[in-house]
Amino acid sequence: MTPTPSVPVTEEVLVIDMGAQYAQLIARRVREAHVFSEVVPHTISAAEIAERRPGAIIISGGPKSVHVEDSPRLDPAIYDLGVPILGICYGAQLIASQLGGTVARSGAGEYGRTKMEPIAQVESRLLDSSSGTDGSSTVWMSHFDAISELPPGFCATASTPGAPVAVLENSERRTYGVQFHPEVIHTDGGQQIIERFLHEIAGLSAEWTMEAFIESAVAQIRQQIGDGHAICGLSGGVDSAVAAALVHRAIGDQLTCVFVDTGLMRKNEGDQVIETFNEHQGIELIHVEAGEKFFGRLAGLTDPEDKRKAIGELFIRVFEEARDSVSDAKFLVQGTVYPDIIESGTAHASTIKSHHNVGGLPEDLDFELVEPLRDLFKDEVRAVGSELGLPDEIVWRQPFPGPGLAVRIIGEVTPEKVALLQEADAIVREVLRDNGLEREIWQSFAVLPDIRTVGVMGDERTYGHPVIIRAVTSEDAMTADWARIPYDVLEIMASRVINEVPGINRVAYDITSKPPGTIEWE
Ligand code: XMP
Repeated sequence: MTPTPSVPVTEEVLVIDMGAQYAQLIARRVREAHVFSEVVPHTISAAEIAERRPGAIIISGGPKSVHVEDSPRLDPAIYDLGVPILGICYGAQLIASQLGGTVARSGAGEYGRTKMEPIAQVESRLLDSSSGTDGSSTVWMSHFDAISELPPGFCATASTPGAPVAVLENSERRTYGVQFHPEVIHTDGGQQIIERFLHEIAGLSAEWTMEAFIESAVAQIRQQIGDGHAICGLSGGVDSAVAAALVHRAIGDQLTCVFVDTGLMRKNEGDQVIETFNEHQGIELIHVEAGEKFFGRLAGLTDPEDKRKAIGELFIRVFEEARDSVSDAKFLVQGTVYPDIIESGTAHASTIKSHHNVGGLPEDLDFELVEPLRDLFKDEVRAVGSELGLPDEIVWRQPFPGPGLAVRIIGEVTPEKVALLQEADAIVREVLRDNGLEREIWQSFAVLPDIRTVGVMGDERTYGHPVIIRAVTSEDAMTADWARIPYDVLEIMASRVINEVPGINRVAYDITSKPPGTIEWE
């Protein structure tokens, strides 16, 4: 019998993270289908899910085999909630094994592009001819085990050489599994499969749009802040700018922005921020010159996490001081976005680095946080910014980390090193802009390592600093690739940096993607 939910479902999709590399990517794909989605840990219970009443569940892949003793499993009652389920890779195997089928250690495994054939006699709801997935197709595989026996009530609708059950379906239960990864672009029609599951099988409408997001965020912000006052730190990056504009839409003059000039900003950044927000957007802005404080606090610190935490804490202290001049604001608006949360470490993801606004917050924080963008990816933040009418220079500004140039100076941070780096960084970005590459590059900047190198200039020996140019392409900063900047553009950057910035005598280009690197050097 089909279990039916007893209460109306929401339009939210829960992506259950079984330890996958791709859980966030699945959530993004769902949102691209205009359905809101959130990633939740696999320890979530059926009761917790029932309370959230999701419109559908997607079970992600994961690195373990279902045969391993400590492999993550789901509360089995989840399968009986009557919520449509799609399992991907390990998620599909888990469905098979928890509902009475068999997963065999095939011994062969399939990795990368694989040809998949439909099973002719069986009608598929997931792989519809109109979705372009009928007939053989190329899918992206990454599995070792394979489903060998179906659970009762399921049928197999496609197979590959290494996976006799590449797709399993039970339309009565509305439970489906795919051994391949529909979320990666290498799977033909992968997005259509996800959309068929969401819209046709789960019956979810495509209503998650940025206008809808703004409307509900504004309502939530008004409810949270009431007639109180909030302050918002502007860092020069796009996230805090969009958060400020959104909160300003919700509460108008109850918001005061604080621009803390840490002395660690990019060249001329302070002036640009003040001009855009205060003069063009009409948002009240307090400008705090805090360079000396930050340099004082950073003196002697060389460990990246120590630097990040020191900056995170000092930011808050400076805000606390600024608050006294803002009719006692109790709320602090932050432009925290989804990747900040994930990377700062959750119960199920390890800490990569403490983003100053998440893991770097002091324990005795005396503010209630307002973080309206915490569920959004960067491209969604940009869409919200445009929708709110922010100018392109702000919306399309490259992301800039809150701790600023401090995480691009390896070792101790001093005003002299910052001045050097500001000049080099400005040249790198200017050359990129002049060559029309700014939009396709996610971030481009210079890094100052804590070493010196020997060179020769004008027949004289030099012993100066090298600068490393870092430029990456990315969709959301969760993963990134080093940008293939044309050699002649790199050459202009390198010669201008060496000629125009005294003290720099060498330029290197970083060709590390993320993973294994991160975008910033610290
Ligand atoms: P990583 O270096 O972790 O950076 O690959 C991912 C993205 O986040 C930015 N970033 C930060 N943003 N506060 C921020 O607001 C931070 O502490 C922080 N650290 C890194 C980074 O520039 C990249 O866009």
